[in-house]
Amino acid sequence: MSDSKDLTPASSGAPATTSDTQQALRPGAWPRAEVEHHLRRTDTDPRAQKRAVRQVSTMFLLSALMVVLFIVAFIAIPRDAVITLPYIGAIGALNAAMGVTFGLAIFLIGAGAVHWAKKLMSDVEVVQERHEMKTDADDTAVAADIYEVGKETSGFAKYPVIRRTMLLAMALVPIPFIVSLRDLWLTPPGVTTPSEELLVTLWKPGMRLVTDITYQPVRADDIPVGGLVNVVPADLPLVEEEEHNLNARAKAAAIVVRMTPDEIQSQQGEGWDYEGILAFSKICTHVGCPISLYQQRTHELLCPCHQSTFNLADSANVVFGPAARRMPQLPITVDDEGYLVAVSDFKEPVGPSFWELKESYS
Ligand code: FES
Repeated sequence: MSDSKDLTPASSGAPATTSDTQQALRPGAWPRAEVEHHLRRTDTDPRAQKRAVRQVSTMFLLSALMVVLFIVAFIAIPRDAVITLPYIGAIGALNAAMGVTFGLAIFLIGAGAVHWAKKLMSDVEVVQERHEMKTDADDTAVAADIYEVGKETSGFAKYPVIRRTMLLAMALVPIPFIVSLRDLWLTPPGVTTPSEELLVTLWKPGMRLVTDITYQPVRADDIPVGGLVNVVPADLPLVEEEEHNLNARAKAAAIVVRMTPDEIQSQQGEGWDYEGILAFSKICTHVGCPISLYQQRTHELLCPCHQSTFNLADSANVVFGPAARRMPQLPITVDDEGYLVAVSDFKEPVGPSFWELKESYS
């Protein structure tokens, strides 16, 4: 900190210039610090200066181009397209394209600004006085003048190509946020909406029920009365391999229980059991915890998360807890070899309720 108003150039011997002297007389100018100052190549070589201007504006232009590519990628790349990258593996092509283009758009603005500051803005060390923290008319005038000085020393006014390309890049950068909002109300033709995806699972007519983890088909005769088996659709491993995610498992997981036929008070559809064997979704209709806690005597299924309790002998209706819907039942039968198979998909959406869910399911 110094009170000096002496703007004599630093001890490097750099001669005082006319602009130094003019700047010293301006109220917004800060005095130069008494430190050695080395001129950069762009300070002495007009060609180097022009080259730096081209480099900075090119980076801003490339940033703008990246935003355009972001929009093109968002519209053109199918959501289920997958690419395989070295060391990373398979990832969604759309996510990768959006991430790379928008990341580069931001990076190029930053890199352009840094390059501009290092090569073209004034790099003279200055001393800034500290003043009382109040704004009066004089200070306001000084601030305005500081702005003018900054504008001149940064070259904001001097290099219109940089100014315009930077403004273009800065103006386009918010667009990806706005374009992304399209998904809130518009779905491209042929693309399944999130709410439509929630209405279906992998279960289909004739699909075998296989044990979770080991994927062994479940024979009806092997389930004792009072028993519970965790099951998934037979084609789940294949789908997981194709989709590279666990989304299908999250919806299709189910449990199978057995009780004597006369213990069944009601079902969600006539004849949806097979000789007292009932299948239900495993995903709690409250907020989606998987449930396997089954009380054989009462036929109640208890969710460990918030204690919602469902009576599996009575259409899996809610008997306690915060769940607002019963657990969806999967209609089942057996195939020629005696293995349990689905008669159809669930007739009600599995898992927690969502906005678009029809009231009849709630
Ligand atoms: S998730 Fe099952 S009760 Fe909350």
